[in-house]
Amino acid sequence: MMEVAVALLGLSHLATHVTAVSTSVKVNWLEGAPKINTGTTFGIPWARGQHLANDTTFSTDSGELQSWVTAYWPDGSVKWSGHALAGSEVVPDAYTITATGKGNATLARRRRQAANGTSIQVEDSEQSIIVDTGKVTATFPKSGNLLVSEIKSASGKTVGRNGRLILNSQNGIPEYGDTTGVEYYKLTSKIYNATVSDDSTARSVVTVQGIHSTDANSTGTRKDWLPFTVRFYLYANSDAIRTIHTIVFDGESKSDFISGLGIRFDVPLAGEELFDRHVRIAGVDGGILHESVQGVTGLRRDPGAAVRGAQYNGTKTPANSTWDSRVSTRLQWIPTWSDYRLTQLSPDGFNIKKRTQAGQSWLKIPGGTRAGGLAYLGGASVGGLAVGLRDFWKKYPTSLDVSDATKDEGSITLWLYSPSAEPMDLRPYHDGLGEDTYAKQLDALEITYEDYEDGYNTPYGIARTNEVFIYAFDSTPSADTLSALTTHTNEPPVLVVEPEYIEKTRAIGSYWKLPEQTAGSSEAGTIESHLDFLVKFYQDQIEQRRWYGFWDHGDIMHGYDTDRHQWKYDVGGYAWDNSELSPDLFFWNYFLRTGRADVYRLAEAQVRHGGEVDSYHLGNFTGLGTRHGVQHWGDSAKQVRISTPVYRKIYYYLSGGDERIGDIIHETLQAEKGFYLVDARRKVRDPSVIYKPDPKALYLNFGTDWAGVGASYLLEWERRGPRWEEARSKLIQTAETFPKLKFGFVTGEALYDSTTGSWAPPPTDPNNNGTINVSHLSSVFGVLETLDQLIEHFPEISQPFIDAWLDYCYYYGATKAEQKARYGKDFGSASLRQGHSRLTAYVATRRSNSTLATRAWNEFLNDNSADELSPTDPWNTVRWNGSSVLAAIDEADWITTNAAALYGLAGIELLALVGPPGENAESY
Ligand SMILES: *[C@@H]1O[C@H](CO)[C@@H](O)[C@H](O)[C@H]1NC(C)=O
Ligand SMILES: *[C@@H]1O[C@H](CO)[C@@H](O)[C@H](O)[C@H]1NC(C)=O
Ligand SMILES: *[C@@H]1O[C@H](CO)[C@@H](O)[C@H](O)[C@H]1NC(C)=O
Ligand SMILES: *[C@@H]1O[C@H](CO)[C@@H](O)[C@H](O)[C@H]1NC(C)=O
Ligand SMILES: *[C@@H]1O[C@H](CO)[C@@H](O)[C@H](O)[C@H]1NC(C)=O
Ligand SMILES: *[C@@H]1O[C@H](CO)[C@@H](O)[C@H](O)[C@H]1NC(C)=O
Ligand SMILES: *[C@@H]1O[C@H](CO)[C@@H](O)[C@H](O)[C@H]1NC(C)=O
Repeated sequence: MMEVAVALLGLSHLATHVTAVSTSVKVNWLEGAPKINTGTTFGIPWARGQHLANDTTFSTDSGELQSWVTAYWPDGSVKWSGHALAGSEVVPDAYTITATGKGNATLARRRRQAANGTSIQVEDSEQSIIVDTGKVTATFPKSGNLLVSEIKSASGKTVGRNGRLILNSQNGIPEYGDTTGVEYYKLTSKIYNATVSDDSTARSVVTVQGIHSTDANSTGTRKDWLPFTVRFYLYANSDAIRTIHTIVFDGESKSDFISGLGIRFDVPLAGEELFDRHVRIAGVDGGILHESVQGVTGLRRDPGAAVRGAQYNGTKTPANSTWDSRVSTRLQWIPTWSDYRLTQLSPDGFNIKKRTQAGQSWLKIPGGTRAGGLAYLGGASVGGLAVGLRDFWKKYPTSLDVSDATKDEGSITLWLYSPSAEPMDLRPYHDGLGEDTYAKQLDALEITYEDYEDGYNTPYGIARTNEVFIYAFDSTPSADTLSALTTHTNEPPVLVVEPEYIEKTRAIGSYWKLPEQTAGSSEAGTIESHLDFLVKFYQDQIEQRRWYGFWDHGDIMHGYDTDRHQWKYDVGGYAWDNSELSPDLFFWNYFLRTGRADVYRLAEAQVRHGGEVDSYHLGNFTGLGTRHGVQHWGDSAKQVRISTPVYRKIYYYLSGGDERIGDIIHETLQAEKGFYLVDARRKVRDPSVIYKPDPKALYLNFGTDWAGVGASYLLEWERRGPRWEEARSKLIQTAETFPKLKFGFVTGEALYDSTTGSWAPPPTDPNNNGTINVSHLSSVFGVLETLDQLIEHFPEISQPFIDAWLDYCYYYGATKAEQKARYGKDFGSASLRQGHSRLTAYVATRRSNSTLATRAWNEFLNDNSADELSPTDPWNTVRWNGSSVLAAIDEADWITTNAAALYGLAGIELLALVGPPGENAESY
């Protein structure tokens, strides 16, 4: 089989010797060893040819390990592996993962070694899936309204029941309380299906899919909407259930308003005295609110120190015979608290209140700034449940309800969108301003830079993913434990491979190196300090400008208004960045080379945002994303340059193949259909060009269109996804046919056959005499990174294709005379020279041309145009406060996000590809 597969790829030189090898790789905790290890998943890259995927076993020095392959090199060797480690009481500072097995020369006998000492039990029946980790048992029905019907603690107590989703929605937004004509709907989850991962040794993944459907208490009825996918990750020896909750918005922005989106669990409390029932709510910086449903502290009469201490600590109070009888005989006069509510309606403050029961006044409990987002309800003897939302305050408006704590069954509701907030309003922010023709739309673009078109400013098909943790307890845990779990919820521990090792494998690009590998000149030191400056600048801007919110968290802004000392949040195409010119790749590559935790967290939030909110998952735009704008989904340019999975890839593999990101990556294959349904250049194409979209002849730009789907094909091939052979064949076909365009990549746009992957000359040049169409945008959306990864993956790819790409890299920044000599005409004025210096560096290294290294650094350091940063820029911020701004901010009016992204990425790549400037150039 191996021989056959390899022969198909034209690899006749495969070695036939047998080499059993063993490779050990160290993985470290991103933020140091966590206090609590509830189990974790991570990924490891492997050099090509090192370990045959199906003859390699993985083991570790500590903990129970489950392993799988997330990507393959074309020779069948492992490219990336995924690993899950079970929960453990002792948390080592690092782990060593060892791969043992044959090299690329032999066939394998087993797909995967069965893990020793399996401690997860899975029961998959017609009706439900039951998973027992040894510390928690959860039941997931396959139909009905419940996501999780029951959660049992380690000792078998039922501590959670009826886990379900709640959606409140309405068909309009009342102005000043006038609710005329507004209908309100109450919906709950309706399950389509639930499935469990095949392998469940160290971890088990249960995926539940469904939609929200009106429930019996709804005043209005409406059709089902808001489909969801909720994944539950359960680890051996862990009482935590990590939950990844995704919704796709499938409504109309003008008639479907979400007014509450939550997850609710009932918590059995029967048999527990009211004074032994506890409510705990995470506050600020590890703080915990300690409450009992019936408080016996602070009373006129003292029940005794032991009683008070136990209640405060959450342990069972001593027998009532030991209490001061002046208290124990008067419990009926002490109010009991049924309901608690925390609301975080802004990133700056939350309130908490409680009441004895519905119909009575709420009592304010002092609130605070930023809540930890976790609530616990339970009792000293019946046990209880805690539920927490990651980034609770960053994803405002959010809230937490503890209800019916005085009854036999209480509940906890975690609101991902708080019903106390105004309804979520996804309507367009303007009425179209009369832009009813392409001519008017293009004229408006001239002033606000917004590319408007009616019907394209739709949220239909965008998605959002939230991360929730559920913890089960046999008895009320200590406040310290809940505090540690709040930290765990907000910064789930991550294991990562060391930068040196990742770099050596060449499994994720050959264009980055570690700072210490490229140090040695003062110029390199300056660039390093600038990269650090830019990362810190964006981290600070996120905080100072409050780039937070249900849909917004994870994005940054695009352009700056120096007069108002304000990012252009309200100016057409300058507002949300939507990954324009790849800041994502800057941050991720910066993480890869430094291993810095803060950079990982920044880039991780961006992955969760861009892949979900800036991209479409349903409808005609599926697989495409939206250009930068005031609303993430508002602009009419729907392109794969925004949704390209190259922005998600590093996270995907490092996370051991995050299943949700895996889905998103797979969806981008559908951009092929998107190209047919949405003609990206409909407004700007010369009207003399007749073009009717046809799947067999799509008029595409190689960079802003094809490269994104090319990145998807490569991922599909690497992952051996369901369409991998088709994806591989299309890439190979593209590599065969693209260089046949007379001017190769300089042709810019040509006809793409999405059924085969082959290219033909553009309609403007049917005879292939050679066309020049060089756009500054073509190669600034991950093209170099995608093509480099393709060439590293499959060096056997057509050499003319590589040459055509290297020619483009060479000529983009070449002199007009050189361009003219080669193509008969020059390219006109080329902008984004600094960003394109990385193309020059790429061809310099691929063709071992040191003169080009000098040219690359010259382009990088002496661009002097709008979208660049130069050594003579201030490289500092200016503080504005007082009446000139809303609140004090640090301003760098010389930075645009385009420039920051290009400087960051080009700086990293030049250092890696051609070495620091001092070494390769006499003068710049
Ligand atoms: C091992 O992998 C090779 C190459 O992918 C494949 O051809 C072969 O069928 C596999 N063998 C087994 C036993 O899975
Ligand atoms: C197989 O592995 C050997 C040793 O690791 C390597 O030299 C060779 O290039 C590999 N062959 C292929 C096809 O990857
Ligand atoms: C696997 O389990 C068996 C039986 O419990 C035990 O004897 C053996 O040492 C275990 N092996 C490893 C590698 O943990
Ligand atoms: C679950 O049901 C949905 C809706 O019918 C369907 O699209 C999806 O493929 C199903 N998933 C599985 C794993 O069966
Ligand atoms: C409807 O409301 C009643 C009373 O509040 C409640 O007991 C019942 O669980 C609700 N039904 C649904 C489907 O939520
Ligand atoms: C409550 O907890 C504190 C701190 O752990 C401890 O010192 C104290 O003895 C506890 N009180 C009771 C009654 O358990
Ligand atoms: C003490 O507790 C017992 C059972 O737990 C109860 O029957 C009794 O009424 C309580 N005594 C007082 C004085 O509340």
